[in-house]
Amino acid sequence: MSKLAFIDEEMLAQQQQGMFINIRTIESAMGAWIQVDGKRVLNLCANNYLGFANHPALKEAAMRAIQEYGVGPAAVRSIAGTQKLHLELEAKLAKFKKVEAAVSYQSGFVTNQAVIPTLSGAGDVLFSDELNHASIIDGSRLSKAKIVRYKHNDPSDLAAQMQNETAVRRRFVITDGVFSMDGDIAPLKEIYAIAEKYDAITIIDDAHGEGVMGEAGRGIADHFGLHGKIDVEVGTMSKAFGVVGGYAAGSKKIVEYLRQRARPFLFSSAVTPADVAACIAAVEILTGSGELVEKLWDNTKYFKTKMLALGFDLGQSVTPIVPVMIGDTTKAHALSKQLFEAGVFAMAITFPTVPKGKERLRVMMSATHSHADLDFAASTFEKAGKALGVI
Ligand SMILES: Cc1ncc(COP(=O)(O)O)c(C=O)c1O
Repeated sequence: MSKLAFIDEEMLAQQQQGMFINIRTIESAMGAWIQVDGKRVLNLCANNYLGFANHPALKEAAMRAIQEYGVGPAAVRSIAGTQKLHLELEAKLAKFKKVEAAVSYQSGFVTNQAVIPTLSGAGDVLFSDELNHASIIDGSRLSKAKIVRYKHNDPSDLAAQMQNETAVRRRFVITDGVFSMDGDIAPLKEIYAIAEKYDAITIIDDAHGEGVMGEAGRGIADHFGLHGKIDVEVGTMSKAFGVVGGYAAGSKKIVEYLRQRARPFLFSSAVTPADVAACIAAVEILTGSGELVEKLWDNTKYFKTKMLALGFDLGQSVTPIVPVMIGDTTKAHALSKQLFEAGVFAMAITFPTVPKGKERLRVMMSATHSHADLDFAASTFEKAGKALGVI
C-alpha cells in the first residue's frame, strides 16, 4: 500500500460527507461584478468592504512604489527589509487607530502568530472566545500558555473562568472584534471591565472591524470608545484595506517588544513595496473621508431590510457580514449553486467552518454594490430560496 494512501482515504471521506471544497477561479479584478469560472456574477463573497482591492489610488501607489523600490524587499525586517514605506505605513496606522505605535506583518494570520506567543508563555492563561478565528487558535497553540475557552460573547462565563484560574503568572483575554462567520460583535466594554479587574492583557483581532466599525472605519475599539485601553489591536490589510498584510497596534512599549521578539518579523521576509504603498493609500483615503464606510453601511441596511422582509434568517449579524442561515449542508450547497447559475456568487459555509446545523451562505456587503445590484441579489435569493423551501 502506498505511503500516501491515507490522503486518498481522507479525501474520499471528505467528499462523502459533502465537505469537499470546490475552489472557484476568479478571472477578473475584484469588484461588485466579477468573472468566475467563465461567468459574470454579482460578487457577494469578498471581504472587499470598501472596494479598495481594485481602487485607482491604491493601484497607482503600488505602481509608483515598484518604480521606486522594486518588487521585493529581499530581506527580513530586522536585517535589510525595513524600507521607509514600512515605517510610513506603521506611523499612519498608529495615527488612524489613535494609538501610540504599530508594527506590520505579512498577513493578519501571521500577526496572531507574532503577537500571541511573543507576549504569552508558560505559566500564563489565554482566555479565548470559543468562536475565535483559526489564526488566534493557532497563535495560542504556539504559546506555552494554558488555553481556556469561554462561551461565545459571554462576559459572565469569562468572569467565572477567570475566577477559576488561580495560580496564574499573567492573564490574557483574546477575542475577535467582529466574528467573521456570524457578523456579531464582541461585547468589548464588559470584556474590558473584567480584564481590568483581573489585570489581564487584552488582545482584540479587528480583522473585520477596521474599515467597517467606528469613526471612518477606525475599528471596534473606536466603536466602543476604548482607545488606549485595549493592549493590542490586531489588524489585517487584506479585508477592508483590500491589499495584504497585517499589523499590531498599541503602546510604544508593546510594539517595540514585538519588533525585537516576534518570530515572523525576525525570520520571514517583509511585505513587498507595492503592497505597503497600496496600504498607505488605503489608510490615507480613510483618514480623509468616511464616505465609503457610510456607503457600506447604507448598503448593509438596504440589503438586510429586504432579506428580512422576504423571511430569511440572518442570524445575529449587526455588521456587513450577513449569514443567510440554512441549517443543512445539502440545501446550503444547492442554494449557492442555484444562485450562481442565476448570476449571484454567494458561497455556502458548512461544517467544520461552522458547527453542524448552522450551515449558511455568508454574504458580504461592499461599498461597490449599487442598490440595483442588491435588488437583483435579493430577488435572486427569493426565487432560489422559495424553490428550495428555505423561505
Ligand atoms: C478574525 C480574523 N483574523 C485574522 C484573519 C486572517 O487575516 P489574513 O487574511 O490577513 O491573513 C482573518 C481572515 O479570515 C480573520 O477573519
